Amino acid sequence: MQLPHLLSRRSSLGTVARGLGAAFLGSGLTATARSPLVAGTFRFAFLTDIHAQPEREAGAGWKKCVDAVNRFPERLDFAITGGDLVMDSLVATPERIAKEWAVFDDGLKNLRIPCHHTIGNHDIGGWSKLSHLPKDAPEYGKSLFVKKFGYEDAYHSHSHLGWHFIHLDSVALDPESGDYFGWIDEAQERWLRADLERVGKKIPIAVVTHIPFFSIWNQMHADPRKGENPKSLVNNANQIRKLLNDYNVRLVLCGHGHVVERIQLAHFNQTTFIQGGAVCGMWWKGRVAGNAEGFGVVTCHPDGRFEFEYHDYGWTAAKPA
Ligand SMILES: [Fe+2]
Repeated sequence: MQLPHLLSRRSSLGTVARGLGAAFLGSGLTATARSPLVAGTFRFAFLTDIHAQPEREAGAGWKKCVDAVNRFPERLDFAITGGDLVMDSLVATPERIAKEWAVFDDGLKNLRIPCHHTIGNHDIGGWSKLSHLPKDAPEYGKSLFVKKFGYEDAYHSHSHLGWHFIHLDSVALDPESGDYFGWIDEAQERWLRADLERVGKKIPIAVVTHIPFFSIWNQMHADPRKGENPKSLVNNANQIRKLLNDYNVRLVLCGHGHVVERIQLAHFNQTTFIQGGAVCGMWWKGRVAGNAEGFGVVTCHPDGRFEFEYHDYGWTAAKPA
């Protein structure tokens, strides 16, 4: 399959990235001052890239994160996960997949608020040319994720106090390579169009996608001329963005890159694209280029304004066993 090359498109966007510094990070769980909520304003937690696994004390780290959400000094109405809930189902055996989900479940059961889940590439069984998982195995593909959380499909939506939340499934299978890549397929796009039409053009909308629509992380970290690969971004993001542009989409949240990033064009549309760091940091091995293990807190206002803060929950990576 010939995939669109992303560099020329992305390099012409002229993105304005901001907030990678201290001003973007919450000042801690107990010291952050906030204005009181007005009627209709609410907050939720954004927990992405947990990568639950038995190694590196990841279970204890995940529980510490959940505890920090439970103890958050302001009311959080619910949580949203951003995908990569487990370390890796792409090339794992059924036994290993079960072990990783057990670690995830053991932490999640302590969470005292409702949680809505987004699928990530590492939550999908067997979608790798290196996998030996049979296609008829119950763990294959997205079926385990869908069944576990009781969804009809890997994409879904819900509403809360005047806002609408859309969880996309940003992962598709390339039949030629046998690997995943970032893509919103046709069936999902039809569902998305119908969901948006149902919600209408006035209600503020937040979209959650595991794989980012846009990111300047690789350019900033490695080389401004660096191209992306089919796995790093949603390859048909602009097609989806054009559909979203007709609606009141204020926020697109994502994970995948494990960094905290904010992208917003000043005079293009009203959507802000935020990558929400990672609960696990660098797969429980420490920080990612200074980005601490953490979670986001989003404050949503009735008029569509929002604020995002990133909170370091105080995890120190365990030494390798
Ligand atoms: Fe991840």
